[in-house]
Amino acid sequence: MTHNKRAAVFASGTGSNFLALINRVDIGCEIVSLVCDRPDATVIDKAKAFGIDTFVFNPKLYNEKSAYESEIKRYLLTARIEWLFLAGYMRLIGPTLLNEFEGKILNIHPSLLPAFPGKDAIGQALDAGVNETGVTVHFVDEGMDTGPIIAQERILINKDDTRASLQERIQQVEHRLYPEVIKQLLMDS
Ligand code: GRF
Repeated sequence: MTHNKRAAVFASGTGSNFLALINRVDIGCEIVSLVCDRPDATVIDKAKAFGIDTFVFNPKLYNEKSAYESEIKRYLLTARIEWLFLAGYMRLIGPTLLNEFEGKILNIHPSLLPAFPGKDAIGQALDAGVNETGVTVHFVDEGMDTGPIIAQERILINKDDTRASLQERIQQVEHRLYPEVIKQLLMDS
């Protein structure tokens, strides 16, 4: 299905959410690119296998965030991309991209924000001994997982849950919730 709205996924790791998004044909936009900050990330192979264009960069080769974000911005504008979906992108977005794509950058996070922001949210929840966690989709601002929340889904933590079993349930929810939220948001935009 071809849409006039074009989007990029930003990811740094394995890319299961990237796959979930490109495999859903009915999210109201076309995912045309992957932006990745880790030249060795396995998500890059997934994008290539599906013929999705990639913009891969190494942040260590730049003096500051604004330098690589300016290059990303040029790339996105040339590709006529207007929506950015972060899915395991392990960097804060700076003013260069936030100003250009205001209100059009989303992120998915494996906790019920504002609980357990930042790295290893699943480990944080297990260490805290809480009996529930979840998944949040939110708009991105300059903070660490602090932007306005769009949707959340609760997941109970069982006494015998391991990190692997909890992560599996969280990812099942993520792979359903992210496309649903995007579809609804783009329908209303
Ligand atoms: C997901 O749990 C997402 O919520 C978080 O990073 C993880 C990325 O996983 N922001 P994957 O690379 O999509 O498998």
